[in-house]
Amino acid sequence: MPIVIFQLPDGTERKVTAESGTALMQAAVSNGVDGIVAECGGNASCATCHVYVDEQHTALVGPPNGVEEEMLDFTAAERRATSRLSCQVRLSDALDGLVVHVPEEQV
Ligand code: FES
Repeated sequence: MPIVIFQLPDGTERKVTAESGTALMQAAVSNGVDGIVAECGGNASCATCHVYVDEQHTALVGPPNGVEEEMLDFTAAERRATSRLSCQVRLSDALDGLVVHVPEEQV
């Protein structure tokens, strides 16, 4: 089961364990990680589950998909090269130890 580390805007971090196949957003919400709002429930239509993938893991996580690519233009916090919608990132054992940064704002 992959472990994911969420770096929060206040400098603290939350380490959570999730089943492979779980969406990164779901791992955050199920574990009460602050700052992942996920208003649309994972349909790539709200952009309130925005995260910045740590640069050491961007190649492994891969680029945004087509719909996600469009929605990333509507994030509350600035879009960066490392931006992903966490509902569109599927966790796997290969992503064990993944580090993501939660933006200051989601809405
Ligand atoms: S939960 Fe709405 S876009 Fe990810």
